[in-house]
Amino acid sequence: MSKEMLVCDHVTKIFTSGFIKKIEVKAVDDVSFTVREGEIISLIGQSGSGKTTLGKIILRLIPPTSGRVLFYGKDIWRDIKTKEELKEYWRQVHAVFQNPMGSFNEFYKVDRVLNQALELIGVDPKSEEGMLLKEESLKAVGLNPDEILGKYPHQLSGGQLQRVMIARSWILRPKLLIADEAVSMLDVSTRGKIVEIFKELRNKLGSSIIFISHDIGLSYFISDRIFIMYKGKIIEEGTPQEVIDNPKHEYTKTLVESVPTIYRKWEDFLEV
Ligand SMILES: Nc1ncnc2c1ncn2[C@@H]1O[C@H](COP(=O)(O)OP(=O)(O)O)[C@@H](O)[C@H]1O
Ligand SMILES: [Mg+2]
Repeated sequence: MSKEMLVCDHVTKIFTSGFIKKIEVKAVDDVSFTVREGEIISLIGQSGSGKTTLGKIILRLIPPTSGRVLFYGKDIWRDIKTKEELKEYWRQVHAVFQNPMGSFNEFYKVDRVLNQALELIGVDPKSEEGMLLKEESLKAVGLNPDEILGKYPHQLSGGQLQRVMIARSWILRPKLLIADEAVSMLDVSTRGKIVEIFKELRNKLGSSIIFISHDIGLSYFISDRIFIMYKGKIIEEGTPQEVIDNPKHEYTKTLVESVPTIYRKWEDFLEV
């Protein structure tokens, strides 16, 4: 069995809002799980179940109210103290978000997100090595560099932009990639191709992936294990076969029944 990478240990996040009457929302409620090296985990649940909050805690963007997140045994909230350590963490743990457009600045060419990644790993984007890495990363996600480099975001499709974001991950070679609804806004056939690229990233770079989605249908194909999240808690977990073919929890059964198609073979998925 591969090495343990990430441990969420009784993670809870309570948001407090309201001035006169305090309203508390338990967005994440006592969540514990482990992700091993090279594993693809799907975190599935309806909107508001706490998936993004959990993702942001793991990304060290918001602190948990209680509990710990360990990355190779290091408590990310207690043991990462300096800017350099945080930068190093973000080099290793990387996110791809839902709206590819939101990851780009409309005034800059798309090259910029790749150049920034190169700078993070200490490669001059204008050097020969930098140019080669950019081209290699774009090819790795099925893009033709000539059609992408030098373009502005509005000149590319959502699927192309999302691929550029994954090309950025390719350059950074993260240990852990958190993909939060990364394919939800794309049309079904593009979704399939992007999911395939995520798998390739895992297969070629050995990265672990936390694939966050409200769509349980997609997770059958991509995941080693599926976690079902409901009202801030993980209520069921197991292999795709266990969770989708034999759901135990009533909520999981409802989720499985509510999707029009559960893709049990990759070919089924591509045919939709
Ligand atoms: N910054 C915040 N302040 C207050 N409540 C929040 C905040 N972020 C999320 N929430 C609440 O936490 C719950 C979980 O949200 P979220 O993690 O975004 O769920 P999901 O990603 O599964 O849709 C929701 O009830 C949401 O309204
Ligand atoms: Mg979300």
